[in-house]
Amino acid sequence: MVQVNGNYLKLKAGYLFPEIGRRVKAFSEANPTAPIIRLGIGDVTEPLPEACRTAMKGAIDEMGTREGFHGYGPEQGYPWLREAIAKTDFQTRGCEVSAEEIFVSDGSKCDSSNILDILGEGNRIAVTDPVYPVYVDSNVMAGRTGDADDAGQYGGLTYLPITASNGFTAPLPEGKVDLIYLCFPNNPTGAVATKAQLKQWVDYALANDALILFDAAYEAFIQDPELPHSIYEIEGARQCAIEFRSFSKNAGFTGTRCALTVVPKGLMGTAANGEKVELWALWNRRQCTKFNGVSYIVQRGAEAVYSIAGQAQVKSLVSFYMENAAIIRQELTAAGLIVYGGEQAPYVWIQTPEGLDSWGFFDHLLGNAHVVGTPGSGFGAAGEGYFRLSAFNSRANVEEAMRRIRSL
Ligand code: MLT
Repeated sequence: MVQVNGNYLKLKAGYLFPEIGRRVKAFSEANPTAPIIRLGIGDVTEPLPEACRTAMKGAIDEMGTREGFHGYGPEQGYPWLREAIAKTDFQTRGCEVSAEEIFVSDGSKCDSSNILDILGEGNRIAVTDPVYPVYVDSNVMAGRTGDADDAGQYGGLTYLPITASNGFTAPLPEGKVDLIYLCFPNNPTGAVATKAQLKQWVDYALANDALILFDAAYEAFIQDPELPHSIYEIEGARQCAIEFRSFSKNAGFTGTRCALTVVPKGLMGTAANGEKVELWALWNRRQCTKFNGVSYIVQRGAEAVYSIAGQAQVKSLVSFYMENAAIIRQELTAAGLIVYGGEQAPYVWIQTPEGLDSWGFFDHLLGNAHVVGTPGSGFGAAGEGYFRLSAFNSRANVEEAMRRIRSL
């Protein structure tokens, strides 16, 4: 009989969002008329920007002609999209990132897990707690951790607690680690890191020969012009960081799929024999072998994000969700809850009321307000006692959810 990957058997529970889905399904089967509002998973609700739709329709028409047809595209993405990304997202912010260093992909969730393909097995890995579960689970699946303990923490991982007392930005590891996952603006806490805070991380990584995996999927939601959008705004980051970005949240591409990973040329790792190896070359090799690129149509849609109209439409989508976040913060504060985040990120992080743990508050809100959120404990042991609400929904749903929560 075929053998299975035993690492999967170490996984503590189902992936968080399917688990929430399962509980919500059970609730709605038992209460078929309950009008449920979902502020759990960070999935966008508003229509695709017009500029993107127009570009994709044009691309479909092109594909219907002999001259405009495209088969396999470059595994790294079309040069015109990589150029637009490098120029608009990085070079205009003073970051030295070239088009060649951009790898277009179908999602930063996929890339942040797939990157483990090119990294060795012996790395000491640090993650924040709470954390986006994909970083931990993909390491478990790849056999890079030990077993989980009763608190759900895996042997071999260094957990860096992010709490209200450190502003939800992680403390530097006490010992030496080789691989560090950072996500700012943060999922799930909605916290942001300043340039000074990111500089500490870059300095740590350079001093310890470590690699930072920087997830910037929510950078478009930053409102304060002083805050960094990219790790490459910090001097030295090209020597120690890979960055993940996405069109999912800013341009509504969760169902359309397009993202990107930046792997700077000259960023090095070490082989078992001590030889220095360029990570760009390994990632390029990995993508060419295992990935056939994002569809031409979708890449044309993503390119339109960088047009004048596209930039304005994406800005207005982001503002819409950030107004939702402001409403959530304001209403929950008025309801007597302690809230964090939601000012530079589309997630509001709520301290659960006394007497209710994270799943207890989940059940309370689902049962009594028919509102779905995400239990903080699902993001890690230090998330216990917290709860995440997402600002991704229609205005009517957000207002109605807040009305129901306030009337509890
Ligand atoms: C979340 O709710 O945390 C998001 O859906 C994460 C993701 O985009 O995968």
